[in-house]
Amino acid sequence: MKAAIYTFPGYHQQGKNVAEILNISSHEIDIHHFPDKESLVTLPEKKSDHVILYLSLDYPNNKLIELLLACKTARTQGIKRLSLVAPYLCYMRQDKSFHTEEAVSQHIIGRWLSELVDDIITVDPHLHRIQSLDTVIPDTNNIVLTATPLLGEFIKSLNKTVHLLGPDEESLQWVKSVAEISHSPYSVATKTRHSDTRVEIQLPEIDYHNQHIILIDDVISTGNTVAQTAIKLYKSGALQVDVIATHALFTKDALDTLNNSNIKNIWSSDSISHSTNQISLKHLLAQNIKTLL
Ligand code: R5P
Repeated sequence: MKAAIYTFPGYHQQGKNVAEILNISSHEIDIHHFPDKESLVTLPEKKSDHVILYLSLDYPNNKLIELLLACKTARTQGIKRLSLVAPYLCYMRQDKSFHTEEAVSQHIIGRWLSELVDDIITVDPHLHRIQSLDTVIPDTNNIVLTATPLLGEFIKSLNKTVHLLGPDEESLQWVKSVAEISHSPYSVATKTRHSDTRVEIQLPEIDYHNQHIILIDDVISTGNTVAQTAIKLYKSGALQVDVIATHALFTKDALDTLNNSNIKNIWSSDSISHSTNQISLKHLLAQNIKTLL
């Protein structure tokens, strides 16, 4: 029996696209929310011994419960192998206790996921001080992919002379890789974070006059990191600032924040479904799911 893809709401189309490439079937998981927001999860009738669950774990709290309900139900149906394709993996930031008694969410959620599924495929997880996802999600076959070659190809296809800029030291890994593929010069700014929404950016000393800058980051959340960087770039004479990111988390006012800072183009991969999606991960994901079949 061939494997089957089960898609969660919000990811039916992406899952279907990947299933078509792999020539396997895709089926929608139905989720009903009761008035008090409890979730009723209904799986398709058993289609295969190997099920690939497809959902990104942005805004994760409800989704994690729904994933738990789906996985436990799948096991009672006799499904032997469960693979989770979560292009955006949640709770990866908090990798240590910064203040006493703080939960180390990364370890807790990581271990919990490893008890639910056999394989995890994800894209550019936000790991700060941890090198390998295997230390976070033990006993699971973890496949970690990167979207940076696709971002690089996208920038190359623009056929423009651009300078790539990462807004903080952490972004160096992504900017460097995108720059190699798009053959663009690059540099990295310094960021000081004062709170969830207040960041301060210090630009590297370069002549920005009349430059077309593309900001590269893994995640856009409140949008303040890239917005503050863009404001400084325009003050320093930049002609145009665009932004490209892998994960379009975009909290409530993020798009306004970016538009108010005069960022011209906002592009993202479809790791998280969003109106800025321009770069499809379907071939990258399909190619790697294939190794599990
Ligand atoms: C930080 O470490 C990440 O790479 C992003 O720069 C950050 O998550 C962006 O957050 P925000 O959009 O809220 O400034």
